[in-house]
Amino acid sequence: MLLFIRSTVNGSYWGIMNQLEYYLECVDCGIKYQSIEVLYICKKCEGLLDIKYDYEKIAEKISVKTWQNRPFTLWRYREIFPVEDYSNIITLNEGGTSLQKCERLEKILNLGNICVKNEGENPTGSFKDRGMTVGITKAIELGFHTVACASTGNTSASLAAYAARAGLRSIVLIPSGKIALGKLTQAIIHGAHIVQIKGNFDEALRAVFQLTQSNPNIYLLNSVNPYRIEGQKSIAYEIYTQLGNAPDNILLPVGNAGNISAIWKGFVELQKLDLITNLPHMIGIQAENAAPIVTAFKKRRENIRPTLHPETIATAIRIGSPISWKKALNAVYDSKGFMEKVTDDEIISAQQLLARQEGIFVEPASAASIAGLKKIVDMNLIEKDDKTVCIVTGHGLKDPDIVIKTSNLNLIEIDPLQDSIANALEQKTIAMERSL
Ligand code: F0G
Repeated sequence: MLLFIRSTVNGSYWGIMNQLEYYLECVDCGIKYQSIEVLYICKKCEGLLDIKYDYEKIAEKISVKTWQNRPFTLWRYREIFPVEDYSNIITLNEGGTSLQKCERLEKILNLGNICVKNEGENPTGSFKDRGMTVGITKAIELGFHTVACASTGNTSASLAAYAARAGLRSIVLIPSGKIALGKLTQAIIHGAHIVQIKGNFDEALRAVFQLTQSNPNIYLLNSVNPYRIEGQKSIAYEIYTQLGNAPDNILLPVGNAGNISAIWKGFVELQKLDLITNLPHMIGIQAENAAPIVTAFKKRRENIRPTLHPETIATAIRIGSPISWKKALNAVYDSKGFMEKVTDDEIISAQQLLARQEGIFVEPASAASIAGLKKIVDMNLIEKDDKTVCIVTGHGLKDPDIVIKTSNLNLIEIDPLQDSIANALEQKTIAMERSL
């Protein structure tokens, strides 16, 4: 099968490629591949692939009015996703998550405009469902019966659910003993074949890559798969719909670095489609001991140096060798954003802050975006009246153990026939105040 066709007329691929509507391009060497090929990385230089479109053609097809008349889910924006036949999509009604204005947080941080995009509202409780609806739809289109991923938990939960919905077999590789209970439970109940890896996520990712290379009948659905990223760019489209434009800043946790790349791609597309007038600064937050992209950014290095033994309480982003680091750094540099790291203690207090002040319960990795916001406010890196959107990526119930471990439980038990509830509550309040 011919993978790419070089135009001998003007040295450009576009004239021949544009009849396909979209094609794959290596972000490193620029080689182009036809979209019908199953490819995860560039055959020549092993660079990541990106999906390219003819935006003029897309602009002719889309209408904001049509979008407004459709239900507020990811597939409202169906014209910007590379699927052949919309009637065959695999969906659980993902997307359409709320953008909550956080007035109490604004007061505490002395900022004028903070919103939280609550990705925990997705069907399996994380943003991964956005990538998975497109990825699994693609798997069906390409004729696969088995899909696989390596995961710190959320991807495996989402893959298992969408594979079940599509009637596909799913295989998930997880770092042994290092994924949150809720996520493991989801993979089990949706019938995934679970393989625990003695090692961390980076080793699990290498193993699943080898598995799919030596078994080409298994479709790899980690974020190295360019179709996953396409689904996740919907976050940008929704924020644009909810705000009427792009915000000044987007903050989000960064692990394998697919999501920051995807959301940036979405905003760049919105600008190309003339739907927004400004682009946001992309601000990526990593956990202190799993922060190779932060280090590369701060040292102005062109490459990351992997963290060999990543460690953090936020297991979802316990990643030392993020596969999409290059796309992430490009997003940060191109958007005039930055990368920052936060400690586990900062993550836990941000999780509690969001839960207690705004009623939004997120898992530790998601709280990294709030911890990061607090930190950059303290560093005076943000304007008071900036419009800032923090993406909180996964629901708090994914990881109940962490709450039990990190909270001062101080549970009270009384005999309602003998003891006074009011007295017991008073004692508890005094004890709580003392512990603060
Ligand atoms: N937040 C949560 C809740 C996640 O589960 C992840 C990644 C991230 C943030 C980071 O996103 O990798 O695109 O930079 N979880 C992956 C997984 C690695 O396997 O579930 P990223």
